[in-house]
Amino acid sequence: MEMSRKGFVCGAAALIICAARPLVAAVADVDARIDALLAQMTLEEKIGQLWQTNGKPSQAIEAEDLSKDRSGDRFLADVRAGRYGSLIGRRGADGYNLLQRTAMEGRLGIPLLIGHDLIHSARTCFPIPLALSCSWEPELWRRIGEAIAVEALTLGCNWTFTPMSDISPDARWGRIAEGPGQDPYLASLLVPAMVKGLQGDDPADGRHIAACAKHYIGYGASTGGLDYYAVEMADGTLRDVYLPPFRAAVDAGVATVMPAFHSFNGVPCSMNRYLLTDILRGELGFDGLTISDYQAVDEMATGHGVAERGADAAAKALNAGMDMEMISDNYEKGLKAALASGRVKIETVDNAVRNILRVKFRFGLFDHPTVDVAALERTIDFPAHLALSREAARKSAVLLKNDGVLPLRPGLKVALVGDVADSVREMRGCWEHGDMSNITNTTLLAGLRADGVDVTYSSCYKLDGARNEAALRAAAADADVVVAAFGEYWGRSGENRSVTRIEFAPVQLKVLETLKRAGRPVVAVVFGGRPLALPELDREANAVLMAWNPGGAGGWGVADVLTGLAEPYGRLTVDFPNATGECPKVYNRMTTGRPSEPAGARWSTHYMDIPFTSVYPFGWGLTYTTFDYAGERVHADGDDMVFSVDVKNTGDRAGSEVVQVYVRDVVAATVRPRRELKGYARVWIEPGETKTVQIRVPKARLGYWVDGSYRVEAGEFKAWIAPHSDGGRELTFRLAE
Ligand code: NOJ
Repeated sequence: MEMSRKGFVCGAAALIICAARPLVAAVADVDARIDALLAQMTLEEKIGQLWQTNGKPSQAIEAEDLSKDRSGDRFLADVRAGRYGSLIGRRGADGYNLLQRTAMEGRLGIPLLIGHDLIHSARTCFPIPLALSCSWEPELWRRIGEAIAVEALTLGCNWTFTPMSDISPDARWGRIAEGPGQDPYLASLLVPAMVKGLQGDDPADGRHIAACAKHYIGYGASTGGLDYYAVEMADGTLRDVYLPPFRAAVDAGVATVMPAFHSFNGVPCSMNRYLLTDILRGELGFDGLTISDYQAVDEMATGHGVAERGADAAAKALNAGMDMEMISDNYEKGLKAALASGRVKIETVDNAVRNILRVKFRFGLFDHPTVDVAALERTIDFPAHLALSREAARKSAVLLKNDGVLPLRPGLKVALVGDVADSVREMRGCWEHGDMSNITNTTLLAGLRADGVDVTYSSCYKLDGARNEAALRAAAADADVVVAAFGEYWGRSGENRSVTRIEFAPVQLKVLETLKRAGRPVVAVVFGGRPLALPELDREANAVLMAWNPGGAGGWGVADVLTGLAEPYGRLTVDFPNATGECPKVYNRMTTGRPSEPAGARWSTHYMDIPFTSVYPFGWGLTYTTFDYAGERVHADGDDMVFSVDVKNTGDRAGSEVVQVYVRDVVAATVRPRRELKGYARVWIEPGETKTVQIRVPKARLGYWVDGSYRVEAGEFKAWIAPHSDGGRELTFRLAE
C-alpha cells in the first residue's frame, strides 16, 4: 500500500484513521498493531527501522549536548523523522529519555532500541562469562542477568549484546573470555538462564531489557584461533556442537540474534541464508530480530570480497535474513535501488521491519518509552548486587592444585606479590563498558585485608616485564607463605586479542623459580581471560587457584576462597592444555582409529613431546575436602537413563561436589567423541557423610546429527560418573531398539 508522509493514509483493515500513537496503541494484539503501523510507514521510515547507528558525528553526546549542539540538533531531527530504528552506545538516562521522547514525537511515534555491550557489567562488574561458566550454575547466570538488566536501564539501555553463546574450544582465541566455555550441553543451560535473567518473565515490566545471542555461528571455531578468520565446518559439527546454545537461547525467548563476522563454509554469516533463514527461523523458530555485527554488512564488500557496497550488499544481507544493519549504511543507501531493480521484494523489507517492531512491542517500549530513573534507582539494591558479584567471584574461582597450604591458616604472615594483586582494573576484565562509579571495587590485596589476613604487599614484578629479585627474596624471607599473582593482563583477552602463546611470560617462570628457592610455600593465584598452559606452575607451586578476571568484588571473592571463608566451588569449563601447540584442545575430541587411551602407546594419537592428557581437564576443580565415588550404576527408567553413585566426603570439611556424567556411543553411524557431558549435579556433603546422587539423562539427549537428522541409536554406550572429564570408572549400558 502506498504511504503518505503526513500520516493520514489507512493501512490494515483494523485502522480507521491513522493518527500516530493513540491509534496504534488502541489495537490490542501485537501482530495487528504491527500491521497497522507498517501500513502507515513510508519506505524511508521502513528502511530507517533497519538501521542501527551510533549517531556520529555526535555519537558520545548525552542529553545536555543533544539539546545545544548543532550536530545534536541534526541528530535529534533525524531521530524524530524515524531515520533510525536503533542506536548503539549508552546515552545516560537523561539522554535516553530525550531520545525516546524525540522518537515518539515523530509522525508514527516508534520508540528506539538502544543497545550497548553490557556483557558482564553495567554498574556492578561481575566476573567475565568464562569465569562465570565455571560455577556450573544456571541460576547464578539468571540472577546476574537480572541485575545487569535493571542497572542497564538506569544507564539508558534497553538492549544488551549478550549472552555470547559461542562454544569456544581454542585458548588462543581472545574471545574465549566472553563465552560459556567449550561444552555444548553446559552452555545450553547457562545461556538461556542469562536470557531469562535479562528479559524476565515479563519483558515489559520496566525492569528488563532485550538480550542478544551472539555470534551466530561457529565463531569460536575460527581457523588457528584467529579472530574473524574463516570457519569451515561439517553440518553435524554445527548442529551437535555449536548450535545447541543458540537453540536454547531461542527456546528461552531471546529477542535478538547477532550473526558473526566470519565466513562460514565460504559465505559470511551476515549473508548466509542457510544459517539465518533456513536454520534460525525455519528450524529453531526464532521470531525476534537479527542485527549485524559492527559494520559486518559493509565488510562483506570491503573485506570478504563477496559483495559490492550499497544495493548489492544490502540485497545479499537482507535477503539472507539480516534484519538490522549495525553502523554501516548499506541498507540506508542501497535498499531503494535494490527494491527498484527487483533484487529485494518489499515483503522482505516489511518482514524485517515486523521483526524489529515485534521486539519493541514485546518490551513495552511503545507504551513506556522512557524510564523514571530516580524511581527505578530507589528499587535497586546495589549492595545486594555487589554481594552477588562477590558470590559470583567465589563461585567462579577454580582450585587447580593444593598440597594442603590452602586454606590459609589464621595467623600466618602472608607476602603478597605481583602487580595485578593490587589492581582494580585487572579484576574487571575485557568488557568493562558500564559505569561503576558508585560501586565499590576491590583488589586481591584489599580482599585479603578485609578477611583479616596478616598480609604485606610489594609488587616485585610485572606480569610481562621487569622484576625486582631482591624485593622478591625479601618479601619471601619475611613471610610464612607467599601468595603470588600470575597470569595475563586483562588486555590480552577479548575481541581481536588472539595469541600464539598461552604459556606464561618468561618473567613469571623466573619469579616462580626465585620463590621456590626462597623455600616458602607458594600459592599461585592466576588472573586472566583464557586457559593458560601451566605445567611448570602445576609442578612447582604448592597451590594454584584460577581466579580469572573476577569482577568488581573479585578481590573479596578470591580472598574468601583463599582463606576458606568460602569453599572452592568452580569446575573448569575448558581444558588447560600443556602447550599452545595443542590448541584447540577439548575433552570431547573425536575418537580415532588409534585412540590416545590408554596413554603412552607408541602408535596411539599423541604428541611426542607432551602428555596427551591436559594439565587440568574440563570439569576439573578441587575443594578443601575429598570425595570418594563408589557403586556407580546405571539403569533405564522410561524415557530416561538414570546414573547413580554413592559419594562420600572423606575429608574433615564440608564441601560441594559436581558429579558429572559422560557418555560415549560405542557403535555409531559416524565417528563420535570419546566422551560427552550429558548431565551433572552439585551436591553438598558434610564430613564423613555419604550421599547417593542420581542424575537423570533423557535418552533423547544421547543422539547426534547425521545426514541432516537427529538420531538416537540403539546399542551399546559407555558411561562415566566422574569428578572430571578424564576420571571415573567405565560403565556400559544399551539402548533398546
Ligand atoms: C563487535 C563485537 O563482535 C560484538 O560482540 C559487539 O556486540 C559489537 N562489536 C558491538 O559493540
